[in-house]
Amino acid sequence: MRVGLLTVSDRGARGEYEDRSGPLLAEIVQSKTPWQVSHRAVVPDEQADIAEMLRRWCDEGVNLILTSGGTGLAPRDVTPEATKAVIERETPGIAEALRAESLKITRHAMLSRAVAGIRGQTLIINLPGSPKAVRENMDVLLPILPHALELLTNTPGSESHHRQV
Ligand code: MTE
Repeated sequence: MRVGLLTVSDRGARGEYEDRSGPLLAEIVQSKTPWQVSHRAVVPDEQADIAEMLRRWCDEGVNLILTSGGTGLAPRDVTPEATKAVIERETPGIAEALRAESLKITRHAMLSRAVAGIRGQTLIINLPGSPKAVRENMDVLLPILPHALELLTNTPGSESHHRQV
């Protein structure tokens, strides 16, 4: 499986701010999954830039794209809009679970407008921008991602769930 990590941040893209969430996500994927981080980038909070990168990575065969940042209420937070513009099918349960679990940790979780969905054989999931939020959201996601990707890429049998049923 190939994973793309897209940090969405104006200041990060200008080099004024060191991206900490992208490297953290890479470390989590590398240490907790057998998958390869094939694509990484930092883009500004511009809907067109975000959508173009998502489309390109989908075309290049990335199976999972995790975005970080730009999901809040600030005027320039447009990651969910960019994601909705490229996905073909929404996976609302993923966003619901991330918010529900995160709400147990902080009320601020209700300020995330993150969405998740599928374009072709790529699953795209928005995560909030802070490293703390990234870590907490990945704790929720990691247990279901193998099965989700197996269903999406139609490679049954590689996941224990199928042997249990
Ligand atoms: N979710 C978790 N698990 N932990 C957090 O600390 N922070 C919230 C929320 N989701 C947070 C969280 C905050 S403060 C905001 S504003 C929104 O995510 C949106 O974050 P973003 O604008 O960086 O995408």
